[in-house]
Amino acid sequence: MPSERKTQHKLYEADSRNLSIIEDSSVDLVVTSPPYPMIEMWDRLFFSFNKEIEEKMRINESMNAFELMHRELDKVWEECYRILKVGGIMCIVIGDAVRTIDGRFRLFSSHSRILAKAVQMGMYVLPSIIWNKPTNAPNKFLGSGTLPVGAYVKMEHEHILIFRKGDKRKFSGDDNILRRISSIFWEERNEWYSDIWRGVNGKRQGLNGEGSRNRSAGFPLEIPRRLISMFSSIEDTVFDPFLGEGTTVTASILLERNSVAVEIERDLIDQYCKNIVFQTNYLNKLIDERQMRHRDFIQKNSQNEWKYFNDFLKMPVVTANERWIQFNRLSEIVLKENGNNNVSELIAFYDEC
Ligand SMILES: C[S@@+](CC[C@H](N)C(=O)[O-])C[C@H]1O[C@@H](n2cnc3c(N)ncnc32)[C@H](O)[C@@H]1O
Repeated sequence: MPSERKTQHKLYEADSRNLSIIEDSSVDLVVTSPPYPMIEMWDRLFFSFNKEIEEKMRINESMNAFELMHRELDKVWEECYRILKVGGIMCIVIGDAVRTIDGRFRLFSSHSRILAKAVQMGMYVLPSIIWNKPTNAPNKFLGSGTLPVGAYVKMEHEHILIFRKGDKRKFSGDDNILRRISSIFWEERNEWYSDIWRGVNGKRQGLNGEGSRNRSAGFPLEIPRRLISMFSSIEDTVFDPFLGEGTTVTASILLERNSVAVEIERDLIDQYCKNIVFQTNYLNKLIDERQMRHRDFIQKNSQNEWKYFNDFLKMPVVTANERWIQFNRLSEIVLKENGNNNVSELIAFYDEC
């Protein structure tokens, strides 16, 4: 029998440019990655949003096309702002694009365009992260190769932009307890709060023409896993306006957060629901590995005298706040029948230790 502890995950088939299905100030954190403007695999999607974009591309007005693509994404960012609670954080994973149009190679800087939009909406811009992606591709020359001056720098990073709506979130009562339980390990903190993330693999959206593409170009689970751990508490609600392969929802399940996500393609939602209900063992393995990593850290530094002890995990910890860390293994993920075709609802149940 499933235990009492559970989280809820609602997946809507909808267009995120209009999120009237979701109430104002109802989510604690947004973690997402949009279709990337000027990356070829998304051209047709942007053309379907606004025919003018296709026309601008046809006549090689690439910068105008780029701007119009972003105006479609702007509508999503405005909706995210509306549904975020005050003090809530928005993390956007975005890669800039390089592309040759009409014989001219250039950069289309999506991260700076989104940053400008966030400022215009009144969000606080927080320090961002460069996700440096290891690539197995052989040293590839762009442009004139070894000859100056027409060689181009190879892009091996994406941006993780971080914004806050309004003033810092305040915690009191039960919220404070959940915040403590959600604390992260000292050694995780040292790595995750760095402004360059290395060693997180992932092939994204065919940047630089590299890598295989799938239909949704998902990011690796480690990205939303870190962001959700860093910017929300257990039982918070995480929102993703671009579900794709559902990585943000999976990370929310793993971390005992609730989630809401939106996807324009119905079959991606169905596929996700069909798969995730069989992933309990895989997710539990990740939960166990986290605990093992901490044990390894303690063993490797066994010369230290540990001042604090976490009774729940039965392990020493470095800082006072880590004494409260708790995470539970999953017992079951269930797709709930709700008779509504436009929303699929998953419930994740946890073993309470
Ligand atoms: C870059 S992918 C998201 C990847 C996701 N973060 C993951 O890890 O799988 C973008 C997704 O957004 C969906 N999408 C694009 N425009 C949308 C819109 N206006 N509303 C809802 N979903 C949209 C696409 O179908 C695609 O699955």
